[in-house]
Amino acid sequence: MKLLQANKFSIEEAAQVIKDGGLVAFPTETVYGLGANGLNPTATAKIFAAKGRPRFNPLILHICNISQIEQISTIDLKTVEKLTQAFFPGPLTLVVPKSNIVPDIITAGNPTVALRMPKHPVALELIKAAGVPIAAPSANKFGKLSPTTAEHVASQLKSKVDIILDGGQSSVGVESTIIEVTGDDYFLLRPGGLSIEDIESVLGKKLLKKENHDNPNAPGMLKYHYAPNIPIHFLDDETYLQNKDKKIGGLLFSEKYLNYNFNVTKVLTSTKNSVEAAANLFFMLHELENSKIDVILAEPIPEKGLGKAIMDRLKKAVNTYK
Ligand code: TXA
Ligand code: MG
Repeated sequence: MKLLQANKFSIEEAAQVIKDGGLVAFPTETVYGLGANGLNPTATAKIFAAKGRPRFNPLILHICNISQIEQISTIDLKTVEKLTQAFFPGPLTLVVPKSNIVPDIITAGNPTVALRMPKHPVALELIKAAGVPIAAPSANKFGKLSPTTAEHVASQLKSKVDIILDGGQSSVGVESTIIEVTGDDYFLLRPGGLSIEDIESVLGKKLLKKENHDNPNAPGMLKYHYAPNIPIHFLDDETYLQNKDKKIGGLLFSEKYLNYNFNVTKVLTSTKNSVEAAANLFFMLHELENSKIDVILAEPIPEKGLGKAIMDRLKKAVNTYK
């Protein structure tokens, strides 16, 4: 594995690794991605192996220009125009009908493909230089904390990747919001780094919820995920008392618990700003994971703006330890 500062030369070298069927971890504005040539099934298979990710969980294809949508999807660009004009590049993933060029391993056999144009300049330059859509999940071991720095990637996947491009800390800090587009309707599959309020105001209509009772393993709907290596619970007075003899790491959002006695305290935002809190979420969870504590107690936060994505990640982490 090579850990390289992202620049013209290292991006070129990384693009060659992608073309040759290897794995490159690279920065995006949401989280770091673990990338491979998205049109090459053998290269893509290495992603699943490196992460320990089940094959039923499909991957996002990352593009660098709008015309690539027509390469990998059969959708009429007009159908997604409002969203692509407003939010591409950015923290939004669209699930649309796939074209024949997309290998089954990418979509886990689904007739749809997930695509996103990241905003991070290193990601865009890498995709452009590789000349193919880059398949990339978050660059963490399956079920673990998502990485927002190159060091986070190295600590989980060091021996599994050919190159890690270091492009600094991801500014958004939580994964993209995923929307499935079917004709006139828009379904929210995962809350993320673009707020639902912003999407609904551009669409002029509400996002629908996707109920998937038939298939509990359906994409994006896993109940356990994003878990630190130490137990995490939601913080309230009762849980605090139950844990008071342990070394506690507090992950806070408001002043409410500031005076409580934690061994380590991390404050996601001092102004109750959900954008700032999202940017700090995984970074601070990684810091807590590396502190000498027994348990993390996380304050629940209002599900507004990016609060919705933050609570989605925290609930899945907490579920892991229930
Ligand atoms: O911000 C992000 O989205 C990051 C960066 C690297 O771009 N990527 C990311 O990928 O979060 P991953 O693999 O960790 O999460 C992708 C989610 C999964 O929950 C997967 O099930 C869902 O997208 N997904 C992919 N293809 C799908 C499809 N055809 N239909 C429904 N869901 C899909
Ligand atoms: Mg992930």
